[in-house]
Amino acid sequence: MSAETPQKTMSEIADDYEEEKLQELEDRLVARSLLYQLGDGAQPKQGKRGRLKPGQHLLMGDDPRLQEMPEKPTLLDFVRLRFTIGGQDHLLQSARLAANNGAPEKMVLACLLHDIAVSGFIRSDHGYWGAQLIEPYVDEEVSWAIRMHQCVRFFPDEDEGYEYPVVYHRMFGEDYKPEPYILEEYKRARAHKWYGSALMICKNDLYSFDPDVEVGWEEFEDILGRHFREPEEGLGNDNTSSSHMWRTLRRPCNAL
Ligand SMILES: [Fe+2]
Ligand SMILES: [Fe+2]
Repeated sequence: MSAETPQKTMSEIADDYEEEKLQELEDRLVARSLLYQLGDGAQPKQGKRGRLKPGQHLLMGDDPRLQEMPEKPTLLDFVRLRFTIGGQDHLLQSARLAANNGAPEKMVLACLLHDIAVSGFIRSDHGYWGAQLIEPYVDEEVSWAIRMHQCVRFFPDEDEGYEYPVVYHRMFGEDYKPEPYILEEYKRARAHKWYGSALMICKNDLYSFDPDVEVGWEEFEDILGRHFREPEEGLGNDNTSSSHMWRTLRRPCNAL
């Protein structure tokens, strides 16, 4: 007869689960935000807040698993040291298309940064997050257009030569319908003086890539220099409405 394994209580199971989700870095313990866990399809049950071993602390400050950032990071430092590579091609190729189509510089910048949330921060509601992230550093029209491309992209405007993106049928399904808040936002955007700018982002939103064409960020350094106001203190060290977002990108696993 095999020895019986004692049954764990619900609270012990919850504690085990939480512990599984904590990663140890020798003397530091990494606590993952709820968002990471929900992203894995797990809704964690409440458990004890990690078990610190003697001498161990929760991770605060730079994360040794990530690339070190300069003291006063610029946008391109974040691009280089934090953003994913794949999403950057989409931004760069869209910006080049906008430039080739004769878009004004600040709209080339809007295209360059339109999906910055997708490649650099959070996917869900990407237009809003992206706009908020860069808002203090760009012309108001640029962040407005980025915020609104989130809704405008779902609604064709044949008079302006914008069709519903064919790729969306594949991405979201043939019968996908934007949620009511998107429809309401679109009505507001449609009546706004800068509607054309949000539409310009959608018209230059390039979905198919030529793998042989390489576009680098250096192509847009001058435009960034003229239209993205880098704070002297470095992004995150300044005191703006989005400094905390840059700091979170820099140190995403700070315990608090
Ligand atoms: Fe987008
Ligand atoms: Fe896009």
